[in-house]
Amino acid sequence: MCGIVGYVGKKTAQDVLVGGLRRLEYRGYDSAGIATLDDNNEAHIARSVGKIAELANVLDGAPQTGHLGIGHTRWATHGGVTETNAHPHHVKNIYMVHNGIIENYKELKAELSDKGYEFASDTDTEVLAALIDSNYTDGVTLKDAVAKALKRVRGTYGIAVFSPKEPGTLIVARLGSPLIIGLGQGETIIASDASALLGYTREAIYLNDGELAVCNKDGAEVFTLGLKHLDSKPETIEGDLAQIQKGGYDYFLLKEIMEQATTLHNTLSGRIDPKAGKMHLGGPNLTEKEMRDIRHVVIVGCGTAYYAGLLASYYMEQLVPDLTTEVVIASEYRYRSFHLPKNSVALIVSQSGETADTLACLREIKKRGVKTLGIVNVVGSTIAREVDGGTYVHAGPEISVASTKAFTAQVVAMLMFAGMLSEYHGGDPKLVAEFTRELSILPEEIEKNLETHRATMEALAKKYSKYDHALYLGRDTAFPISLEGALKLKEISYIHSEGYASGELKHGPIALVDDRFFEVFNILDNWLFDKSCGGLHEVRARGGKTIVLTDSKADIEADDIVRIESPIKHLAPILLNTLQQLFAYYIAVDRGNDVDQPRNLAKSVTVE
Ligand code: F6R
Repeated sequence: MCGIVGYVGKKTAQDVLVGGLRRLEYRGYDSAGIATLDDNNEAHIARSVGKIAELANVLDGAPQTGHLGIGHTRWATHGGVTETNAHPHHVKNIYMVHNGIIENYKELKAELSDKGYEFASDTDTEVLAALIDSNYTDGVTLKDAVAKALKRVRGTYGIAVFSPKEPGTLIVARLGSPLIIGLGQGETIIASDASALLGYTREAIYLNDGELAVCNKDGAEVFTLGLKHLDSKPETIEGDLAQIQKGGYDYFLLKEIMEQATTLHNTLSGRIDPKAGKMHLGGPNLTEKEMRDIRHVVIVGCGTAYYAGLLASYYMEQLVPDLTTEVVIASEYRYRSFHLPKNSVALIVSQSGETADTLACLREIKKRGVKTLGIVNVVGSTIAREVDGGTYVHAGPEISVASTKAFTAQVVAMLMFAGMLSEYHGGDPKLVAEFTRELSILPEEIEKNLETHRATMEALAKKYSKYDHALYLGRDTAFPISLEGALKLKEISYIHSEGYASGELKHGPIALVDDRFFEVFNILDNWLFDKSCGGLHEVRARGGKTIVLTDSKADIEADDIVRIESPIKHLAPILLNTLQQLFAYYIAVDRGNDVDQPRNLAKSVTVE
């Protein structure tokens, strides 16, 4: 996600900020900027779209000399990738950078507009800067103004703020978005990620959620938002640069699997209301009539994005009674002589937003006059720009080639679209409310599930890593995740693996069962439970080695069983899938593979 750096001390702030932003480049970003305060108390801002090198070019032409400043790499969430939307944002006396999402920014923006504030960007950050400024009246300190403003905010933030009215002071605060204060000799460096602090200091205060700090060159004082002084003890930053960038994990893949609870919070942020039992996506840009008229949804994607679409289509059918859904592989669909019925909508699913086949489909579909909605992660990507509307899944940068957290976010984003559609199509509000409740607890359930079963999946991976072949089997909503489980395994472990609907076993694949194979059964505790177990029995009767992943408490015979315990029912496949992700990861590690860069694969497939 976005990165923050801040500096106050004796050095030229520009150099420290740009150096720190380069350290944060690995996180992915689309634009960058810095703001500094010079010795005459004049602030200067430089921002640019693209790489830090672009920003450095801008600064070469107009160097900034001050000794205090803030910097940011932006991964767009609200508003496109433009220089105006890049941080730092400036509103009157406030200069600010922000990570996170302000959920209630629209209502705050309306209120501040009434007070005369004008907004140059589309960002939630500029609204927060204006809110702070509106509290920064005569006699009020910047610290007090920030604390007061943050009490009004719903959402997540890590912020760094300065004002020419209080030179030498940087205010930082966090809620759900990391901020670390590095304590140097006569200098203080703040960052959203410890990698930016290395080389300056290893002594740091890790700010907790709901805390705010006043920083100057001599250190920092930490407060609650209620302005109670806290006695925060500095800690030592451990590890080298590479370890820190991977969040302490050995690979980005594991980091991305383990951070799904956090990223899912961002996907859901402001889009579900568990009390009302409703879901709402802002992006589709469809009128009520258009929503009501939709009769057919075609979901387009490749690889993991296609499987996410397949799982979402099951949910869509459950939630929207009069809807036909069709899920298509982009590389095939683009060349078919397809006809889309009247009142169709196409969901174009892509993490990168650049996949050539998916993009080609989007263009083909548009030619036929059908509305296209993007389910995209990378803001400002080509697909995001070319669709008629849609939603960003806010999974944050996915660096490892194999897609994990994006799958979860894509399914959830499409589910929310279905939940919203349901209302216009006479769907069962109780069912929508059930799904909404499950979504509201899904991040915590994912986190709990991953922690509980991590060691088990590692042990299982060691047991099965020497096999040559694997079959993944499931029915109903466990079918798409079986396809996805097999894909994850094959792409990072290089074990030949196939996913099948378990009802298909006796139509062919059961002939494969022998001692070179193991079989993974995803079995859900639902109305098809007995039938799902049927496939398992058939494989066991032929001596197959079986692993069962299930949310059922019933007796099941298999070589290995992993049971999740969760109040979640409809979304249990998402939980089971996170176990499969861990399983594939640990097998790849055990086989000594390059987990983050599997052979022959690229993260963004921009060629056909
Ligand atoms: C599998 C994987 C790929 C992508 C596919 C589509 O782990 O990463 O199958 O899902 O290449 O990519 P996007 O979503 O960027 O269109």
